[in-house]
Amino acid sequence: MPEVGFIGLGRMGSRIARNILKGGFPLVVWNRTREKAEEFAKLGATLSDSPKKVAERCSIVISMLTDPVVTENVLTGTGDMKGASVLDGIQRGKIVVDMSTNHPMISRRIAEKVREKGGDFVEAPVVGGAFIAEQARLTILAAGRQESVEAVSKVLQTTSQKILHVGEIGAASAIKLILNLHLWINMAGFAECVVIASKLGVKPKTLAEVFNNTVFKNYVTEYKSQKIIDDEWSPVATIDLAVKDIKLALEVARDVDVPTFLGSVTKDLYVATAQMGMRDLDVMAVAITYGKLTNEKISKLV
Ligand SMILES: NC(=O)c1ccc[n+]([C@@H]2O[C@H](COP(=O)([O-])OP(=O)(O)OC[C@H]3O[C@@H](n4cnc5c(N)ncnc54)[C@H](OP(=O)(O)O)[C@@H]3O)[C@@H](O)[C@H]2O)c1
Repeated sequence: MPEVGFIGLGRMGSRIARNILKGGFPLVVWNRTREKAEEFAKLGATLSDSPKKVAERCSIVISMLTDPVVTENVLTGTGDMKGASVLDGIQRGKIVVDMSTNHPMISRRIAEKVREKGGDFVEAPVVGGAFIAEQARLTILAAGRQESVEAVSKVLQTTSQKILHVGEIGAASAIKLILNLHLWINMAGFAECVVIASKLGVKPKTLAEVFNNTVFKNYVTEYKSQKIIDDEWSPVATIDLAVKDIKLALEVARDVDVPTFLGSVTKDLYVATAQMGMRDLDVMAVAITYGKLTNEKISKLV
């Protein structure tokens, strides 16, 4: 079993790293907040002092970080990680796997730098939240050279039910952003419907039940509706994360001159929700914003 490096032990990363450990791979970890990495030492992982040291030691290095700016910095030292980044520890034959939701152009830039040093890069953003990660049921969108995707697939299989090889570097992050854009628009749409229904005397639970007994059933009506029904807003993914994702998706759409009528309105709704003090609540909290705007008591937070 090769030693696997893992960088970024946040909500998603910690669950993925645990699955890799459970899969029997020796794990070397680094996290900005050291206490989170120390918890992994108790589970048998080795603590490292920097991303550079993780890369020097491991043949496969996985990252799961907040956003493209952080990812580029930790992987290639574009900011305060200069001299201590993964790239600084890369030698021939090593493979860097980024599971974060990244920007296709930044992914390509990282891949180029890693390849210049004789290593290789695989994009591997994930579909599914923390709960799905915990159950090792993520879908992974892999992009990059076939042989490198194959070389890391045994490690990725410890945390996923399916790995889809979608093309060259950039393709996986593009698809991931598009999937998310579709999801956030869908969620905002459902929030709007819930409040209209509530105004007309139909409870969110009844509305969701009807949706879910028709061909209109989807992830939002089946799972995210539960947040509204239970009035429980602990985050699977936060409003802040949605704002980051939508901005990235709109940026990518702008690069290719596609208008984003629905995406732009949805972004404003998420930004407003964050500004109204709900940035750390679950993404479905856009429904609370609709409730507040219309004075409809769909939550105790309205
Ligand atoms: N949450 C979801 O449902 C979900 C689903 C699919 C994909 N994703 C994607 O997965 C990625 C991680 O999301 P998450 O929910 O796990 O986020 P998170 O809980 O906020 O974790 C973010 C990680 O990035 C690290 N980090 C942040 N800023 C840093 C910096 N300046 N330098 C070094 N490390 C830094 C954090 O370190 P600290 O511990 O020190 O803060 C933490 O390890 C994101 O790209 C997200 O879009 C999330």
